[in-house]
Amino acid sequence: MKKKYLLFLAVIVFNHITYAQTATTKMNQFIDRLMQEMTLEEKIGQLNLLTPGGGIPTGAVVSSDVETKIKNGQVGGLFGVIGADKVLQAQRIAIENSRLHIPLIFGSDVIHGHKTTFPIPLGLACSWDTILIKQTARAAAIEATADGLSWAFSPMVDICRDPRWGRIAEGAGEDAFLGSAIAGVMVRGYQNNDLRKDNTVMACVKHFALYGAAEGGRDYNTVDMSKIRMYNDYLPPYKAAIDAGAGSVMSSFNVIDDVPATGNSWLLTNLLRKQWHFNGFVVSDYTSVNEMEAHGLGNLQEVSALALKAGLDMDMVGEGFLTTLKTSLQQKKITLNDINNACRRILQAKYKLGLFDNPYRNVSPNRAKDILSLEHLLLSRKAAAKSCVLLKNNNVLPLQRKGVIALVGPLADSKRNMLGTWSVAGDWHKSVTLKEGMENIVGNSARIIYAKGANISDDTAFNKRVNVFGEEIEMGPASAETMIHEAVAAAKNADIVVAALGEAADMSGESSSRADIGLPESQQKLLEALVQTGKPIVIVLFNGRPMALVKENSMASAILDVWFGGTEAGNGIADVLFGNENPSGKLTASFPYSVGQIPVYYNHLNTGRPYVLGGPTKFKSDYLDIPNAPLFPFGYGLSYTKFQYSPITLSDSVLDNNTTIYASVTVTNTGNYDGEEVVQLYLREEVASISRPVKMLKGFQKIYLKKGESKTVRFPLQVDALKFYNSDLAFVAESGKYDVMIGTSSIDVQTASFTYNNQ
Ligand code: BGC
Repeated sequence: MKKKYLLFLAVIVFNHITYAQTATTKMNQFIDRLMQEMTLEEKIGQLNLLTPGGGIPTGAVVSSDVETKIKNGQVGGLFGVIGADKVLQAQRIAIENSRLHIPLIFGSDVIHGHKTTFPIPLGLACSWDTILIKQTARAAAIEATADGLSWAFSPMVDICRDPRWGRIAEGAGEDAFLGSAIAGVMVRGYQNNDLRKDNTVMACVKHFALYGAAEGGRDYNTVDMSKIRMYNDYLPPYKAAIDAGAGSVMSSFNVIDDVPATGNSWLLTNLLRKQWHFNGFVVSDYTSVNEMEAHGLGNLQEVSALALKAGLDMDMVGEGFLTTLKTSLQQKKITLNDINNACRRILQAKYKLGLFDNPYRNVSPNRAKDILSLEHLLLSRKAAAKSCVLLKNNNVLPLQRKGVIALVGPLADSKRNMLGTWSVAGDWHKSVTLKEGMENIVGNSARIIYAKGANISDDTAFNKRVNVFGEEIEMGPASAETMIHEAVAAAKNADIVVAALGEAADMSGESSSRADIGLPESQQKLLEALVQTGKPIVIVLFNGRPMALVKENSMASAILDVWFGGTEAGNGIADVLFGNENPSGKLTASFPYSVGQIPVYYNHLNTGRPYVLGGPTKFKSDYLDIPNAPLFPFGYGLSYTKFQYSPITLSDSVLDNNTTIYASVTVTNTGNYDGEEVVQLYLREEVASISRPVKMLKGFQKIYLKKGESKTVRFPLQVDALKFYNSDLAFVAESGKYDVMIGTSSIDVQTASFTYNNQ
């Protein structure tokens, strides 16, 4: 029986391989024939990605004469074209008016949803719910394809340990293990194992690589990092996305070993193609080829040749490839092979997407119903709720649906600020504010008195910069004093105050770094005035990054971090505030105690003089004025209920290369609400050939427990979990003693240990 089954399996695998081989052969034959027909100019044209504007131009240039260039075969793809009719129009030009009728590929920044917007990626990551995250990527792909798109500039998987960097909002946070899990499900959600389907998009993992490690948290800034750190802590999520089959990669703006990523052959060829076997195509970031001039690598012709030779296939917006590669070929700075390779990779992507069979594959009138569908809106509401992280709760949440609630703060009723950064296709008019969400839930059972209380910021120069895409920071006619006065009056008449405070949507995101990551002064003053009323205050915190909130933490009775929740933000947050949903989010990036601590992250190395809490301080690694620990650590987040952890049971005390140890804990819901818990497993090797982190996340499971219920959570541990890159960059597991820690956050764990024998 077993034999028969194995035979059957072998036949299936064989057929699958043969089918894949035939499909590849067919693709290659098709592309060979097509490339024989193509002129040099047409080949170079395929390497050119333009934006006709209409999206969000993030660089200095927006392409001109796009129509003529398409007709001349000088364009391989477009992005920033929003709406199926516009995509159709542009595709028609390519198919009907260009000599070889090669279809364009249409991309877009589908980052956290398309028209239905989900929470910003940093928020969504805090759900630790990979099924949910995959569902949001699926929904985004369905909507994007209904809008004619085939290519999503996502997932953004840059690890970041510096919350000053605005783009921390777009990624999964500080940890490579969690980041890798999320990268993988996002790619699978977008591509769904079949790029030819009319509801899948090709993923583009970005920004390759290390973009999140910009010095000082200043966007586009220099990155300097050891290879060991790169391989162990920053590269895994990119690799995970590629292992999951991501069809394309976007190079980053920064330097790596002082060579810009866009022209870095170690990165784009040795690592990506040779070590990781990536066989898709690489696109530059917005004008990042041209920007190599400012990096000091040569003139446009030189840097374009450098980028192509390094392994870059497509040039976004800057047209360095379009305008200089022919000359470089004539001058023998590059070879025809270099151009052919890049062109082939672009054509392969189009072929894999089925664009040669049907260039209009996604566009049909009956797909309109897929956009902002009820199913997607419900998912947006659920995702908004699951992203919330309860940072503090002195028994004031969930809110009662009775009495009087003062709802104050500049983010309480601000549609513009619900979607968060990079919501290119999202329509903020359709978003649900916190006020609307709360009113939807309480109806007539409680009274909500609303007062804005303060502007997000009163700094006009700062506000002007934040408001480039619209008036996210509104400066109404009322003075700061009047607004505070109204809010205080509302608070005095209420049983409890809900204060919606934090950042405007574009205070994080690209080119939105902040040196001071605290609450703007206008809101601090509001909070101080509210505290004087003596009423309990619940801060609902809107933010695109971890913030420095020591003072606010001491003033509030509760803090619920809601990030930017997307289209249904208000409903999702209200679900949590009133207890329809029990908060289950856990931080994926540490909240520093103060900016001076940055970078502060949980998986740091020990120093030779570690400070032990409560112990002597002189000549220890600490600060005179602040603690070492962040205000809120990685993995932290409260619930309305309580979870109790049993000690860890290990199935064995010795692990070898062929065995599995199971580490188990029993978690009991001892509180008064049903709820979900993210059970986290960390590892630490006590002695190794290099200094290793004090702990590293190596597993997590999100479980649901009814009030009073217990569950045993079992984590398998195999040698792979122990492997790391050593000084020779070999991926090894070393014999020795390991601590396994399981708990509710990175600082609240049970510990046991086992020995690993590398034999
Ligand atoms: C960003 C990318 C984005 C691209 C296209 C750039 O400025 O860095 O993340 O995909 O613009 O919009």
